[in-house]
Amino acid sequence: MKITLHVWRQAGPDAAGRFERYERGDVSPDMSFLELLDVVNESLIEKGSEPVAFEHDCREGICGSCGVVISGKAHGPHRGTATCQLHMRSFQDGDELWVEPWRARAFPIMKDLIVDRSALDRIIEAGGYISVRTGSAAEANAVPIPKPTADAAFEAATCIGCGACVAVCPNASAMLFTAAKVAHLSMLPQGQAERWERVSRMVEAMDAEGFGNCTNHGACEVACPKEISIDFIAWLNRDYLKARKTRVG
Ligand code: SF4
Ligand code: FES
Repeated sequence: MKITLHVWRQAGPDAAGRFERYERGDVSPDMSFLELLDVVNESLIEKGSEPVAFEHDCREGICGSCGVVISGKAHGPHRGTATCQLHMRSFQDGDELWVEPWRARAFPIMKDLIVDRSALDRIIEAGGYISVRTGSAAEANAVPIPKPTADAAFEAATCIGCGACVAVCPNASAMLFTAAKVAHLSMLPQGQAERWERVSRMVEAMDAEGFGNCTNHGACEVACPKEISIDFIAWLNRDYLKARKTRVG
């Protein structure tokens, strides 16, 4: 396949950015999108040029590090697919693709396609600990949890913290991410002890990081590689309101 990439190049956080054009006529349909970037980088290195900086780790949709915008779509054209799981057979021979980093005030660009997503880590950190007994693991059936609750908590827990939900939201809202992180604990018995403090602290941390609010646009759940439902945002709002009503001070 012949593929032309226009890749965002930016030397550092304060440098001006621009698109650079890379044309490849040897693209295998079985290559992953990141493997195409590897091939582009190999030829840049051979020419003595600076390779394209992009983040990646697991390359199997688990770690959340690889997200980029491909021709206006976070993680590319397929639903439920992280950038590293995207293959070149998803595109047509002769396609031109524009590759950009996430764009949100809370995610400053570090270099080329890499953004600083540590704001998401600070939201998780604000959530704090859960009170559990230490020692050997409890017997699996000692705490009965209804199947629908376990399934919903599991769905929330699949969030990989990639930040695509923020990147596609017109408000750069981190509500889907925060909702997933709040819900996977507050739905389960183990998360009850600190439930109300946790949701308050996480929402406050989210606001302090400069993320916008949710206006029910819905782009986040479309872009989410784990297809996490926007229903979790309603869950977050309910928990946050209850926490505010019952909060002392
Ligand atoms: S909610 Fe989805 S899109 Fe947002 S950070 Fe988690 S996995 Fe990524
Ligand atoms: S490299 Fe880990 S999710 Fe893509």
